[in-house]
Amino acid sequence: MSTKKKTLLIYGASGYTGKIIAARAIELSLDFEIAGRDPIKTQELARKFKVPFHVFTVDDENAWKKALKDKQVLINAAGPYKFTAKQAMNACLNAGVHYLDISAELDTYKLAESLDDKAKKAGIQLMSGAGLFVSYDALAVHLSKLVEKPQQLKVGFQHYGGFSKGSVLSSKNIANLGVLIRKDGQIIENKDPQPKVFSFGKGQLECLPTPLGGIILSYKSTQIPNIEEYFSLKLPATDMLDLNPENLPDGPTEDERAAGRNGIAAEVTGIDGKVVKAWVDAPSGYNLTPLSVIAVAHRILKNDYKIGYQSPGSAYGEDIIKDIPETRLIDLVK
Ligand SMILES: NC(=O)c1ccc[n+]([C@@H]2O[C@H](COP(=O)([O-])OP(=O)(O)OC[C@H]3O[C@@H](n4cnc5c(N)ncnc54)[C@H](OP(=O)(O)O)[C@@H]3O)[C@@H](O)[C@H]2O)c1
Repeated sequence: MSTKKKTLLIYGASGYTGKIIAARAIELSLDFEIAGRDPIKTQELARKFKVPFHVFTVDDENAWKKALKDKQVLINAAGPYKFTAKQAMNACLNAGVHYLDISAELDTYKLAESLDDKAKKAGIQLMSGAGLFVSYDALAVHLSKLVEKPQQLKVGFQHYGGFSKGSVLSSKNIANLGVLIRKDGQIIENKDPQPKVFSFGKGQLECLPTPLGGIILSYKSTQIPNIEEYFSLKLPATDMLDLNPENLPDGPTEDERAAGRNGIAAEVTGIDGKVVKAWVDAPSGYNLTPLSVIAVAHRILKNDYKIGYQSPGSAYGEDIIKDIPETRLIDLVK
């Protein structure tokens, strides 16, 4: 790999989360460029970080070609992904550039899954959900190795830090799908969803059945045939979308993000009924996502990747958690 190709492009960099991702890339002195559809916001950010920039809409194939030339990896930070993932993934397939996004939309994961063969032919790693799901998936992989023939995975996600405008808009694309679970290897709707209590260190918390993405991503990394997911809050689309999105704040302030932590608790049951539990103690959501996606991008920049459609766990196993600052996995029962 030539040294010229050691660069990263962040598309949607001037969004709320994109800016924090770019700031993290600066912190690690990564060689990167930014892109986005808004000329003023993109140029302002490029000036602030003193990095090259590109302005183009997500449908502009020629502009993608130009911007991805000499890049090794793209972070697509522009969501809702319903409107950006297909174009950005295709651009990466055409350019032979590894693809990462921070989507929480299940349809984006399915799209990545459907492009597996093309990604292999292009020699790229295609990973959707490289934000909060990096430590989540690492936790699932960790537990799946502690029992014989793991049969069931249950995950509770404790979110701290409110929601960005982009997350409120995107969560509509999750809430609309209903309460999906994986049962006997198939994705089905749970017709009788019930809350479940999870243990996050000292505290216990009742979480609500919510399809978070592990039914696709952690199935990819562990092949566990039965997966149920729970969230500590209602998805914002269920009670915030009546508000005009223009009136929503961009997202939590730096102080608000620093004031609490996220927890991800999981349990896996083996074929003999043995249950193992662990949890991940991590920075709050909008700090964790940038730390996570940059951890994965950094691995790719060091030529550590697996070609084809990958989840964080299928590409990196539980090891990736060590790359995420202030994040640790704690076993509860062995
Ligand atoms: N699961 C996770 O780990 C996690 C965590 C955080 C965020 N997210 C997801 O990341 C996405 C971005 O969140 P955010 O908080 O940064 O939202 P945001 O502040 O609204 O920023 C969205 C960014 O995407 C751009 N964008 C939106 N639609 C576009 C389109 N059709 N074409 C080109 N650019 C487009 C916006 O450009 P303009 O400024 O021009 O509108 C902006 O730069 C959301 O989907 C959110 O759910 C996921």
